Amino acid sequence: MSNPKQPQTDHQNPSREFLKARSEPFVSDQQKGIPSGPVETPPPDDAERIALPAPDAFSCGQMPLREVIGQRRSRRRFSSAPLTIEELAFVCWATLGMQKVFEGGHVVWRTVPSAGARHALQLYLAVGNVQGLPKGLYRYLALEHALAVLKTDNAILDKTARACFDQRWMARAAAVLFFSAVPYRMEWRYGPASPKLIALDAGHACQNTYLAAESLGAGACAVAAYDQTRVDQLVGLDGNDEFVIYLATVGRV
Ligand SMILES: Cc1cc2nc3c(=O)[nH]c(=O)nc-3n(C[C@H](O)[C@H](O)[C@H](O)COP(=O)(O)O)c2cc1C
Repeated sequence: MSNPKQPQTDHQNPSREFLKARSEPFVSDQQKGIPSGPVETPPPDDAERIALPAPDAFSCGQMPLREVIGQRRSRRRFSSAPLTIEELAFVCWATLGMQKVFEGGHVVWRTVPSAGARHALQLYLAVGNVQGLPKGLYRYLALEHALAVLKTDNAILDKTARACFDQRWMARAAAVLFFSAVPYRMEWRYGPASPKLIALDAGHACQNTYLAAESLGAGACAVAAYDQTRVDQLVGLDGNDEFVIYLATVGRV
């Protein structure tokens, strides 16, 4: 295989600044003594809750890690076989699940790392083929390890695929995960460095989605090609204090 030289680009590309470490001085809201806000946005009061099988009782996810990593792939061809609710719970928990809550609920450890343990991500789900769950939009409540039912909608996966530049294969997933960011949670401590940190966090979380799905004999595929306005509207986010930054499909292959 030939080994071409890395092209040298001599122009300034401002979008690259996003990738760099920030060192300009700033006073964070944390330093100003401003409260950080909740570790998880409370769901609507009237949202129905569906309790999920507890992580310590999971029977799924037993495949050895070496095998899981060795066979991980982005999977876009899903069978019509559903996921069980335990499998969906496992994927949610692996992706953003809580492990421990400290300091009166102000600090959390999760199954994924996060810069400064700020954990600015939340998880929404478009469910289309999960045993016992009506098709629709849900939110994973990590603190309760439960789903909040946001709306039932038979066409939710179809709408999701359309909002992702018509990636039709997405409509055949068992579920689509939407990773939303609540940027202030990170900005409170890290100010202008936050966008990069949140994006790094999302990568870690989604890798757990991949590994969890693969270990189920199912599969996942990350999706970053989406229409920001349409996806935020579909999930019901304001696009400023909270918005989608990443998606992943999950389904049996
Ligand atoms: C940040 C990111 C965004 C992606 N967005 C999409 C997408 O919008 N649609 C898609 O079909 N695949 C998407 N993928 C999957 C990649 O195409 C896939 O990871 C790549 O082709 C390598 O294949 P592999 O994951 O099987 O190793 C994305 C992957 C990443 C990490």
